Amino acid sequence: MADASRSRARVGGGGRRSVLALLLLLSVGARASGDGEAGAGEKVAAAWTGGLSRRSFPKGFVFGTAASAYQVEGMAHKDGRGPSIWDAFISIPGEIANNATADVTVDEYHRYKEDVNIMKRMGFDAYRFSISWSRIFPNGTGKVNWKGVAYYNRLINYMLKIGITPYANLYHYDLPEALEVQYGGLLNRKVVNSFADYADFCFKTFGDRVKNWMTFNEPRVVAALGYDDGRFAPGRCTKCKAGNSATEPYIVAHHLILSHAAAVQRYRQKYQLTQKGRIGILLDFVWYEALTNSTADQAAAERSRDFHVGWFLHPIIYGQYPNSVQKIVKERLPKFTADEINIVKGSIDYVGVNQYTAYYVRDQQPNATTLLSYSSDWHAEFVYERNGVPIGPRLHCRQIQIGFT
Ligand SMILES: *[C@@H]1O[C@H](CO)[C@@H](O)[C@H](O)[C@H]1NC(C)=O
Ligand SMILES: *[C@@H]1O[C@H](CO)[C@@H](O)[C@H](O)[C@H]1NC(C)=O
Ligand SMILES: *[C@@H]1O[C@H](CO)[C@@H](O)[C@H](O)[C@H]1NC(C)=O
Ligand SMILES: *[C@@H]1O[C@H](CO)[C@@H](O)[C@H](O)[C@H]1NC(C)=O
Repeated sequence: MADASRSRARVGGGGRRSVLALLLLLSVGARASGDGEAGAGEKVAAAWTGGLSRRSFPKGFVFGTAASAYQVEGMAHKDGRGPSIWDAFISIPGEIANNATADVTVDEYHRYKEDVNIMKRMGFDAYRFSISWSRIFPNGTGKVNWKGVAYYNRLINYMLKIGITPYANLYHYDLPEALEVQYGGLLNRKVVNSFADYADFCFKTFGDRVKNWMTFNEPRVVAALGYDDGRFAPGRCTKCKAGNSATEPYIVAHHLILSHAAAVQRYRQKYQLTQKGRIGILLDFVWYEALTNSTADQAAAERSRDFHVGWFLHPIIYGQYPNSVQKIVKERLPKFTADEINIVKGSIDYVGVNQYTAYYVRDQQPNATTLLSYSSDWHAEFVYERNGVPIGPRLHCRQIQIGFT
């Protein structure tokens, strides 16, 4: 699936263009799916894709599109939606190019039929949309905004009517601002219960029709960009106005994993048997290749993979953080209790991977000037070329990132 979530510069007016660009690239594969002889369209498509077509994929392979609520819905302050941490973040002068806002974006709140029709026309099977927590619970917990609920009902029902399978993602970077103000948001353990209650409400309300659930989109990005370098909401880091890049990313990741697991537990205990859906999480990844065959660089590549995707996937599969992460982060790394291991371990029916690219890395041990942080804990340095040669060819369009689930 495509993921349009990375560039915050896209929060504003460029939205519809980038979503369409994503759709276009992916549609090339999807359209070349007829069973007859290759038509002109298919030949053009084949030229674009190096001969790749839908026929190259196994039967049942799902082609889909994906988006985040905040980037496509608009109506950020209307119909009862409460603000999220992104509404607070983008209002800080200088954070967003051209002072763009998400007040309108591509207006999917009103134009969802048009968007879903385009998906259908392009030959897609599925749409992974995200639900805006603060559109359902404006204050994060407590009172429900029924206008928000009605919107997601309209969207889901229309997708099913047209034949686009809904994949609902519960969290795409957009914590309700009320919880940030009330108790420090993802830094507070209380968020685990708040998230589980919100997820529970969504399962109860939409789960008769939604059979594919995701708890979080790219939780690593939430922890790293929100709390290590401060480029994403809530903009915390050691060198920012507030924050601690050495500890907060790990605390936040821990709470994200526990929130994920608590939501999955609710789904399995209360809904899965009758609703017969499945639930997972979406992780971002890039492959790390050792720059040389030295033992140190090989270990750096392995470590980078551990710190990137293992940080979340290892606990979810094995109940604990990767050894390399434990060894380096030591007492800064929160620990799972025996009870927590029980709910975290095995808490996925499936895993989504947003695969972006690949990098070379080499070993880089910290020195006296190294600022302690999640990113410096990798003890690895990114390298973009080996003997002057990049790791692979560049895509035609640098804006486009492709992943899949
Ligand atoms: C963005 O907002 C700031 C502060 O209100 C203003 O000084 C600046 O000119 C604005 N920039 C653009 C590109 O509109
Ligand atoms: C959210 O909290 C504020 C402040 O406590 C309150 O005034 C408002 O009514 C609450 N909104 C909802 C929808 O519960
Ligand atoms: C690493 O070793 C393999 C096997 O000996 C060799 O094929 C490869 O070229 C080496 N890679 C580098 C970067 O030296
Ligand atoms: C110290 O480590 C940092 C990365 O943590 C690196 O950027 C810097 O070049 C290193 N300095 C020396 C003198 O090796």
